[in-house]
Amino acid sequence: MDLRTRYLGLTLRNPLLAAASPLSRTVEGVRHLADVGVGAVVLFSLFEEEIRREAQQNAMLAAQGNESYAESLTYFPASVHREHGATRHLRLLERAAAAVDIPVIGSVNGITPGGWAQYAHSMQDAGAAAIELNIYSLPGSPHIDGRRVEQRHLDVLDRVKSAVTVPVAVKLSPFFSSTAEMVRRLDEAGADGVVLFNRFLQPDIDCETLRTAPGVTLSAAAEMRLPMTWIALLSGRVRASLAASTGVEGAAELIKYLLAGADVVQSASALLRHGPDHAAVILDGLRTWMHRKGFANLGDVRGLLAVPKDQETRQRADYVGAVRDANSQAYGTW
Ligand SMILES: Cc1cc2nc3c(=O)[nH]c(=O)nc-3n(C[C@H](O)[C@H](O)[C@H](O)COP(=O)(O)O)c2cc1C
Repeated sequence: MDLRTRYLGLTLRNPLLAAASPLSRTVEGVRHLADVGVGAVVLFSLFEEEIRREAQQNAMLAAQGNESYAESLTYFPASVHREHGATRHLRLLERAAAAVDIPVIGSVNGITPGGWAQYAHSMQDAGAAAIELNIYSLPGSPHIDGRRVEQRHLDVLDRVKSAVTVPVAVKLSPFFSSTAEMVRRLDEAGADGVVLFNRFLQPDIDCETLRTAPGVTLSAAAEMRLPMTWIALLSGRVRASLAASTGVEGAAELIKYLLAGADVVQSASALLRHGPDHAAVILDGLRTWMHRKGFANLGDVRGLLAVPKDQETRQRADYVGAVRDANSQAYGTW
C-alpha cells in the first residue's frame, strides 16, 4: 500500500506529521517519532521573544558578576555559561536532522522582521528541510484593523522567502474575517504550504482562587470540524500544500482530513496524551481502513470529499438545512 504524499514539494513516506510540541525538545524525542513511523517532524518553535529575554537576563547577570569581581569567572552566575538559547535550538535542529531519515521542519515564532528571516536562515543552515512560520499573535488592541493583521502575515512570509531557499509553510490562526482570501494571498505571495490551524492559549478562570489559569489544554477530536471545513473549501483552489492541524485523536480524524483534501495531517495533543507510539496506531488504522475500502494509494483518497468548485454556496444551504432539521427535532415542526 502506497502512503507516500507530497508536502511543500517534499516526498514523505506517509501523511502523518508530528506537529510542533514538546515531544521534539530532544534528539531522542525526534528519533522516537521517526522510529514509530511519522512522515516528518515539525520541531517545537524557536521563540524570538524567549531568546531575547534570556539574552537580556544573561547580559544583566554577566554585568553583575563583572561589577562584583571583575577577574573571577567562577563568581559568574551559572546561567551566564549556558548556551545561548538560539544556538541551543539550532544545535538541536542540526543533530535531530542528522539523526533521522525523514524531513525535520524548523518552526519560527518571531517578533521582529529581521528576527524571522535570520532564524529561518539559520534553521536552513542547520539542516531544516522546510520552515514553518508560527505566526501566533493575538491582536488584542481594538485599534489594530484586520488588513494590518493580514499584511503582517504577508510581510513575514516575504522576509523569510527572501532569506531561505527551502520551502516555507505558514501556520495560521483560525480567526480571519476571510480565511480563504488570506490563504489565497499567501499562496500568491509564494507560500509553499499553509497549516490550518494553530490553537490559541485560552486562559481559564478559577472561581475559588480568583486567579486566571493560563495552562495549555490538549485538543479534543470535535475541534477538527473547523479546520476540516476550511481544508475542504480550499482543496484544489490553491497551489500551496494544505496541512491540517487540530483534533487528530486517531485514524478516523486523519482519514477525514485526507478525504477533505489535506496533503498532510499534523498531530500534537494525541501524541502527548497517549505517547509518541500512538503515531503507529494511527497509521495502522489508516492502512486497515484503506485496505477495507479498497484504496491502494493515498492519491485515491485525498480530496474525495472536498467541496467541489463552484459549490461553495452549498455550505450555506447545508447550514440552513441542518439548523432547520435540528430545530424541528428539538421543538417539532412549526
Ligand atoms: C504543549 C503544546 C506545545 C505546543 N508548542 C507549539 C510550538 O512550539 N509551535 C507551534 O507552532 N505550535 C505548538 N503547539 C500547537 C500544535 O503544534 C498544534 O498546532 C495544536 O496543538 C493543534 O493540534 P492538536 O489538536 O493535534 O494538538 C503546541 C501545542 C501543545 C499542546
